[in-house]
Amino acid sequence: MPSSAGRKGTSLSASRTIARVSLLACVGLSCCGTPGRAPVSSGDPNDPEPSFTDEERAALGELSADPLPAAPTDMSNRVADDPNAASFGRVLFFDAGFSGKLLDGDNDGSKNAVGLKGETGKVACASCHVPETGFSDSRSIRQQISLGAGWGRRRAPALLDVSQSKLLMWDGRRDALYNQIFGVIESPVEMNSSRLFAAQQVFVRHRGEYEAIFGEMPPLDDTTRFPALDATQTGCQALDRYNACPEPMRGAPGDGGDFDGMSAADQDEVTRVVVNAGKAIGAYERLLTCGTTRFDQWLRGDATALSKSEQRGAALFVGRAKCSSCHSGPYLSDEKFHNVGMKAALVATTFLNANDRGAAEGLPLMQQDPLNVAGRFSDGNDLRIPLSAGGTELEGSFRTPRLRCVSQRPSFMHTAQMMTLEKVVEFFDKGGDVGGFPGTKEIVPLGLSARERTDLVAFLVALNGPGPAAELLRPP
Ligand code: HEC
Ligand code: HEC
Repeated sequence: MPSSAGRKGTSLSASRTIARVSLLACVGLSCCGTPGRAPVSSGDPNDPEPSFTDEERAALGELSADPLPAAPTDMSNRVADDPNAASFGRVLFFDAGFSGKLLDGDNDGSKNAVGLKGETGKVACASCHVPETGFSDSRSIRQQISLGAGWGRRRAPALLDVSQSKLLMWDGRRDALYNQIFGVIESPVEMNSSRLFAAQQVFVRHRGEYEAIFGEMPPLDDTTRFPALDATQTGCQALDRYNACPEPMRGAPGDGGDFDGMSAADQDEVTRVVVNAGKAIGAYERLLTCGTTRFDQWLRGDATALSKSEQRGAALFVGRAKCSSCHSGPYLSDEKFHNVGMKAALVATTFLNANDRGAAEGLPLMQQDPLNVAGRFSDGNDLRIPLSAGGTELEGSFRTPRLRCVSQRPSFMHTAQMMTLEKVVEFFDKGGDVGGFPGTKEIVPLGLSARERTDLVAFLVALNGPGPAAELLRPP
């Protein structure tokens, strides 16, 4: 379970109220005075009054907005804000019908697995992005890395507020929600399927909904043009001991058979159907938000919204602990890639990549991806792709996670090796690990006291919000 430390205090002293009311009048402004300084001492040395410098006050204002910024325009997806597309995307998100065979024996039919080895049609997006836990993976064994058809090597990030991130995945390997789904479909450890099978399944199962939004589908039942594949044939038949597929994924580019044998125009038709499915899913994902937190309410003037501990944590976050140097803006991420110097530890399985180069590998893959926003399957290019391929500074770096609703996640970091927010804060406090990771780390020890660490955790928990409307948590 994530930490529940630092919950809202039960009683409010008058002095606290005064202190925070005057803080609020100044947040975001460069007004002076000493609003955070308690007019009257609370008298409890273990729970001192929070105090804020002018800089801290201004910096806290940057972590919120009223209202919070909406999903930014997505030029790459012309149906990004079409409610019908979002509704179709919601259907697809919960549909396991695109997936091939489960390959790993850990698929043992238990509640931590999606089915039994050899079964097909078991893996949906929602299998690893569980709506009730902020669309992160609280289902797989030990709630760390995900068990789909096989074991993945990184944690499934929470999808709340994902529309705020233009470069996706821990390593920036994808640049749009519409192309992100190809990685899932054509991974032997996730859906273990292929675009050819997925396109055929859209044709068989969702043709009406698809055509209402995207127009007529290609005749995917014409097996002279589009070879018929069934769920037991698509993707990979067996994983090797590195958890990779030793054969090409059947139905995907490079298969030397079903897909590669089609005409270039028909290959494009197939890819476009899956791209459009991805655009619909993207429209749905844009609706997934954490929403207004107690922290926002406090900044908007509700003096009772945060406890003293949470307020002290807020001051540390933007102040001495320097968290906001990376976790900046209203979604608490600079959307950049950083090396925090974490030595990978053993997680749920031994499949973890202990020498993960992060964005040093991910960004070049995205730049070369024919499905990226500069390519012909995109509806527009907003120049989100960085021009440089990235140098050694990206070695071992990962995208700064957004932190709204962070306490709902069952585990933390791209490796999921930290199971509590206390552990994460301890990690940053000690300035990361000493060696054992690729690249050069950017953080230094902070020298926080035990109470300060508790305060920071309390602040992180105060970033919890109501999440998306209840109906978005299930299929229509
Ligand atoms: C088997 C588990 C699994 C399934 C199934 C799965 N995901 Fe994921 N998802 C992950 C993991 C793990 C990552 C991070 C991988 C990485 O960064 O290397 C991820 C990353 C993402 C991201 C990037 C989020 C961000 O903040 O950058 C999005 C978006 C996403 N998934 C959406 C989907 C959609 C849509 C589907 C269904 C088509 C899906 N996922 C199916 C495990 C899964
Ligand atoms: C140098 C930039 C940087 C600084 C400074 C920084 N972070 Fe992070 N933070 C990151 C990155 C990058 C990750 C993901 C690292 C990974 O998975 O390898 C991360 C991960 C996290 C996570 C885990 C979120 C998740 O979903 O796994 C939390 C919580 C967090 N940081 C809080 C903090 C706090 C609190 C501070 C201040 C004490 C802080 N960070 C300082 C960049 C930074």
